[in-house]
Amino acid sequence: MSQLEKLSDWEETARVQERINWLSRQIEHHRFRYYILSQPEITDEEFDRLFRELEDLEGRYPRLRNPDSPTQKVGVPPSTEFGQVRHRVPLLSLANAMSLEELDKWEERLVRALKNQDMEVGPLNYVCELKIDGLSIALTYRNGLFEQGATRGNGEVGEDVTLNLKTVVNLPYRLNPPGPAEKPLPEMLEVRGEIYMPKASFEALNKALIAEDEPPFANPRNAASGALRQKDPRQTAKRNLAFFAYGLYVTDKTIKEPLSHFESLNFLKKFGFPVEVHGRFAKNMQEVKDYCSEWEQKRHELPYQTDGVVIKADNRLLWQALGATAHSPRWAVAFKYPPEEAETLIEDVRFEVGRTGAVTPIAWLKPVKLAGTTVKRASLHNADQIKRLDVRIGDAVVVRKAGEIIPEVVSVNLKRRPAQSEVLHYPTKCPVCGAHLERSGNEVAFRCPNTAACPSQVRRRIEHWVSRSAMDVDGVGESLIEQLINAGLIKNASDLYRLTKEQLLTLERMGEKSAENVLAALHASKKRPLANLFFALGIRHVGQGVAELLAGRFDSIASLAKASKEEIASVEGVGPTIAQAVAEYFAEAPNQSLIKELEALGVTGEGGEEGVQPVSQELAGKTFVLSGTLNTMDRTSAEKAIKRRGGRATSSVTKKTNYLVVGDNPGSKLAKAQELGITVIDESGFRSMLGIAD
Ligand code: IVH
Repeated sequence: MSQLEKLSDWEETARVQERINWLSRQIEHHRFRYYILSQPEITDEEFDRLFRELEDLEGRYPRLRNPDSPTQKVGVPPSTEFGQVRHRVPLLSLANAMSLEELDKWEERLVRALKNQDMEVGPLNYVCELKIDGLSIALTYRNGLFEQGATRGNGEVGEDVTLNLKTVVNLPYRLNPPGPAEKPLPEMLEVRGEIYMPKASFEALNKALIAEDEPPFANPRNAASGALRQKDPRQTAKRNLAFFAYGLYVTDKTIKEPLSHFESLNFLKKFGFPVEVHGRFAKNMQEVKDYCSEWEQKRHELPYQTDGVVIKADNRLLWQALGATAHSPRWAVAFKYPPEEAETLIEDVRFEVGRTGAVTPIAWLKPVKLAGTTVKRASLHNADQIKRLDVRIGDAVVVRKAGEIIPEVVSVNLKRRPAQSEVLHYPTKCPVCGAHLERSGNEVAFRCPNTAACPSQVRRRIEHWVSRSAMDVDGVGESLIEQLINAGLIKNASDLYRLTKEQLLTLERMGEKSAENVLAALHASKKRPLANLFFALGIRHVGQGVAELLAGRFDSIASLAKASKEEIASVEGVGPTIAQAVAEYFAEAPNQSLIKELEALGVTGEGGEEGVQPVSQELAGKTFVLSGTLNTMDRTSAEKAIKRRGGRATSSVTKKTNYLVVGDNPGSKLAKAQELGITVIDESGFRSMLGIAD
């Protein structure tokens, strides 16, 4: 070998080593985000790509593999919040197959491995199971009673989440004795399976978060993981988690374990475990592939989210023979469905006016099937996003569902752009009332300034008033509000409390009983706590969290209305921007008369105080400071979002601060944080930490 060749060889090695190190660091980082924070920054597909590249490089350059490479371990060390449980058998992950061809390759690897061990290889049978998008869990039963449950953790040691698991309604607490012969229950039994959040619970949780101006969870898995790792089991119970068993792992031999995995699933059912019903025995790889194709679309009809198919060799003797790598067993593989995106046409773009006058562009799409539902509308977020994407009416665009709820436009397919398309201009006038739109300071949103009379703002304000986290008026929804406005019966929230049964009966589809229910619900809402009332007023920057802070200091609407800007700003956690907004609100004549009317009608917020309950604990023990202006959320909702995830938001940077979140024009806090060596994250990093996709 010439000197030159040696040099280039050396350079190549150095380059590969550097790449391996970089990939390893990335994978560790993203595992931490996924397993501990439940807030991935990248999609599963992107993660898989990194992992595969590392595996590939290590395969080609075995000498360069680091002894602590992430390919040699699973997950991340368990959090110290919970007790630690050492798994009897490592709780591994699965290798992925991204296409049907890769399933053939997996089968070839199986056959080769078996032949290498001089094992007779007859036709291989498989079991196909839908891959539930949740988190794996190991359950121990002693003498038929549920004793302990643990998360995966690093595969060797997991977190003890027994108490939280006891709130999962379909997780059996006591097992059925197997068969009519009433054999004794095994002294010890370990069952593995998936904890997940059903789509309905996930959607309800996200809707509630959105209604509260809170960022929603990006997917049911994150929401489930957050729910399972709550410090208070009562919080877990509220999240309606569910369980599916998929493996009978360790027994004390008092029962004879079936050799067929498919049989062992039946065993689990007999014990009383919920097993996903669509699992199927497959005689050969063709049947496996048929199953994968069959479920690609059908899976969207299920009430739980699935992201692939897990294929397992049926014969458990082969499991022993094949063993596992440090990361995954060789006898199973996860076939992953491609991400849920679809291309369609933008037929129109409409600008909707929200409660605070913010104008949001919505793309009206040629209806397209996406993740099991037909999508007709997608958010374009704001004027900057329209500019960035340069979307135009008539464009072919890729849409994606963020968190299964709000589809969004991801990109434009320029190749399909019609010749005569026109640049989309943001309106200068309110599309509903015609007022000139305004954009203040460095805000992203354009707003309609016609606060009192813009019909769209009026409607949205009343919808906000009756919503669950505000005055919680049962039975008064969007369509009734629209009817009431159209009939000229209401113009603001106080009008609701003057409605009579006779007036309600003039509306379409309104019977005696319903009218009485509406009046009763309105009456009941008069007694909501003061914090709800402050929130219901819809004052800019006053989300639920700030409303609670204000209710802690001011004991009535009247005393808040009288307070000076300085007094309001002196409330811990309430800054000058909020104080300014509150003062402005009470300075406006229509608001003053609204408040007088509400008081006269007995809507006084005397129902008492209720604390904010965190919905999860991902950020427990973490203190955040915000600095500068965030583009996608106001400070209040950012602080609320932290609080709801169990973290703390404070106003000054100290040694105890864990993260400084910087927006535009951050000011002196940034220098202070750098001096103290505090982790600084930008808005996008913050959003992913909260589990919201960018
Ligand atoms: S078997 C040794 N079966 O998918 C690992 N896993 O991407 C055995 N999963 O960690 C896992 N449904 O959390 C198995 N029917 C199923 C599954 C399933 C979902 C999850 C599980 C696993 C992850 C791998």
